[in-house]
Amino acid sequence: MAESMQGLKRTARCAEFTVNDIGRTVTVMGWVQKSRNKGGLVFTDIRDRSGIIQAVFEEDICGSAVFAKAGTLHSEYCIAVTGEIRSRGTDANSNIATGAIEVEAKDLRILSESAVLPFQIEDETNTREELRLKYRYLDLRRAPLQRNIALRSKLAISVRNYMDENGFLEIETPTFIKSTPEGARDYLVPSRVHQGEFYALPQSPQLLKQLLMVSGFDRYFQLARCYRDEDLRADRQPEFTQIDMELSFADVDTVIEVNEGLIKRMFKDVLNVDVEIPIQRMTWQTAMDVYGSDKPDLRFGLPIRDVSEIAGSSGFSVFKNAVEAGGVVRGIRVPGEGHMPRKKIDALTDVAKLFGGKGLAYLCVNAAEDGSHKSSFTKFMTPEETDALIKAMDAEKGDLLVFAADKLNIVRNVLGNVRLELGKQLDLIDKTAWKFLWVTEFPLLEWSEEEQRFTAMHHPFTMPMDEDWQYIDSDPGRVRAKAYDIVLNGTEIGGGSVRIHQADIQEKMLSVLGFTPEQANKQFGFLLEAFKYGVPPHAGLAYGLDRVAMWMAGAESIRDVMAFPKLKDASDAMMGAPSEVDPKQLDELGIAVVEKE
Ligand code: AMO
Ligand code: AMP
Repeated sequence: MAESMQGLKRTARCAEFTVNDIGRTVTVMGWVQKSRNKGGLVFTDIRDRSGIIQAVFEEDICGSAVFAKAGTLHSEYCIAVTGEIRSRGTDANSNIATGAIEVEAKDLRILSESAVLPFQIEDETNTREELRLKYRYLDLRRAPLQRNIALRSKLAISVRNYMDENGFLEIETPTFIKSTPEGARDYLVPSRVHQGEFYALPQSPQLLKQLLMVSGFDRYFQLARCYRDEDLRADRQPEFTQIDMELSFADVDTVIEVNEGLIKRMFKDVLNVDVEIPIQRMTWQTAMDVYGSDKPDLRFGLPIRDVSEIAGSSGFSVFKNAVEAGGVVRGIRVPGEGHMPRKKIDALTDVAKLFGGKGLAYLCVNAAEDGSHKSSFTKFMTPEETDALIKAMDAEKGDLLVFAADKLNIVRNVLGNVRLELGKQLDLIDKTAWKFLWVTEFPLLEWSEEEQRFTAMHHPFTMPMDEDWQYIDSDPGRVRAKAYDIVLNGTEIGGGSVRIHQADIQEKMLSVLGFTPEQANKQFGFLLEAFKYGVPPHAGLAYGLDRVAMWMAGAESIRDVMAFPKLKDASDAMMGAPSEVDPKQLDELGIAVVEKE
C-alpha cells in the first residue's frame, strides 16, 4: 500500500545528519537498503544519494501499529521515517558516515513498495551489464554510479564556470544538420516535409562553431552532444558529449594556454588535484617514433630506439631484408628482464603478431647460466654485430631486448603495443599519476590504402604548417598541420586545430582530398560562402567529456559515467531502441523497409 507524503517534509538527506543533530526530531526519506527484525527491534537502513542512516523501531516508542508496519519492510521500499536522532553509544558502526547515530523511529510511511529486484543494489556487482542496463534506473542507485554521475555534474559545472570567466559564450547549435566531415558514419533523420531527404545528426558542431567565429562571437563553447555511427569500444559510444570550443584570433599557443587553465581548473574543482602546467608537448613524429603511438602513455618509460643502421647491415636476414626493402628495425630495452621465461616472451610475440608484425626477435643479454646471450637471432650474427647492437640499445647484462623489423608503420604499431603490454605485465604503470601530454604537428593528410587517396587526418578545415605548405603537390604526406591532441594517461581526451581561413588554401586542400569544386560546394558551400565575408583566423578544440569523466572517476568505461549508455551493438536495452515503428509513420516519411536481415 502506497501512502502519501502529505504533511511531511524531508529534513535533510540521510547521511547529512551528524552527532550535532542528537535530540532533534527529523524526517528522512529514502530506500530500504535492508531491514531486519531482531527480537522486538526492527533495524532499517535507509539509503539516498548521500548515503545511509539506520532507523530503529521499538514497539514501546513507536507503538504497535507502526512497529507492525516496520515488520513488512523489504529491500528498496521507498519510505519516510520520522523520529529523533539519538546516539548509538557503544554500538557505533564505523563503516558508515552516520554510524555514530540513528533515528529512533516514531512514525513510518511506506511511500511505495518494491517488487522483487532483478539484482541487488550493491556497490560491487557481478550482474552482467546487459541486465544492469535494462534496469539502468536501478543500477544507477548503486553508490559507485551515484558518485560517477555526481562527479560528471561537478565537471560540467566547473567547465561552465571557467569558460564563462574566460570570456566564452555558451551557444547551442542544432542537432538536425547537414552531414559534417568528421569521418565516421552519420546517423540520419528522415524528413517528412522533404520526402527522400535527410538530416544528419552532428558528429561534432565543427562547421557551426566556425560560422559562429564568422559572426564575431570570438569565444564559443558548448557541452555538445555528438553522434557517430562507429564500432563501439570502452571509450566510444554512439552518442557522447564534447566540451567544444572555438576561439578567434588565436594560434596554437593561445588554445593550449586557455586549455591548460581549463584542465587545471577541472581537476582542482572535481578531484582537488593540482595539475602542473605547462603540460609537456611532443610532436606527433616523436610520439610515433619513441612510443609507437599518437597517444603515448607516459606513466612509464620503455622508449623505442631505432637500430636500423646496425641491424640492417648484420647477417640476420630478417633485419637485413626489412631495411633493404625500405623498412626499419627498432627495439625496446627492458631493464633487468633478461630472465623473462620463454613463455612470456612468446606471449609478447603473439602481441606483435596481433598488431601486424611477423614476429618479435629477442635478446636476453648475458642471461644464460654460462653468461652467454639467450636469443632468437644472435646465431645469425657475428659476436661483433651482436655487441654493436647491444651497445646501440644502451643495454646491460640482464636486460631483455625485443626488436621488430618491418615497414615503418608496422614497426611503430607493433612496438607501441608491445610496450603497453610490457607496462601492464611488469606493473610499471603508476596508477596514481595524471600524465598529460600535448601531441602537436600531426600530419595534415593520411594515405588511405582502402580508398587509394589522401584523407584528412583531422578534418578538411585544418590549417597546414606554413613552412610545409610548399610540399602539398610534391610530397603531400610530408605536410604537417597546426593540429594537436591532448592525451591523458595514454587516452586521447581531446583534439583540435587551427583552421584554414584563406580561400586559396581551402580550395587546394579540398582538391587534394579529391573534391571537385562542385562536390565541395554541394557539401560545404555554405561554409565557403560564409568565408567570403571577412572570416577571422580561428582555432579550436574539443574534449570527450565522457572520457575526462571516466578518468576522473577511475572508471573502466565511459558507460560508467553516462546515465543511460548504449550496449556494444548501439542498442538501448532499457527502452528497446532502436525499434520498429508504426507503418503509418514510415508512410508519412515516404520510407519503405526493403527487407530486414
Ligand atoms: P574529434 O573527432 O577528435 O574532434 O573528437 C574530439 C574528442 O571527442 C571524443 N570522442 C568520443 N568520445 C566518446 N565516444 C566517441 N564515439 C567519440 N569520438 C570522439 C574524443 C576526442 O578527442 N570537431 C573536432 C574538434 C575540433 O577540431 O575542434 C572533433 O570532433 O575524446
Ligand atoms: P625465424 O627466422 O622466422 O625463426 O625468426 C627468428 C626470430 O625472429 C624469431 O624470434 C621471430 O619471432 C623473429 N622475427 C621474425 N620476423 C620478424 C620481424 N619482422 N621482426 C622482428 N622479429 C622477427
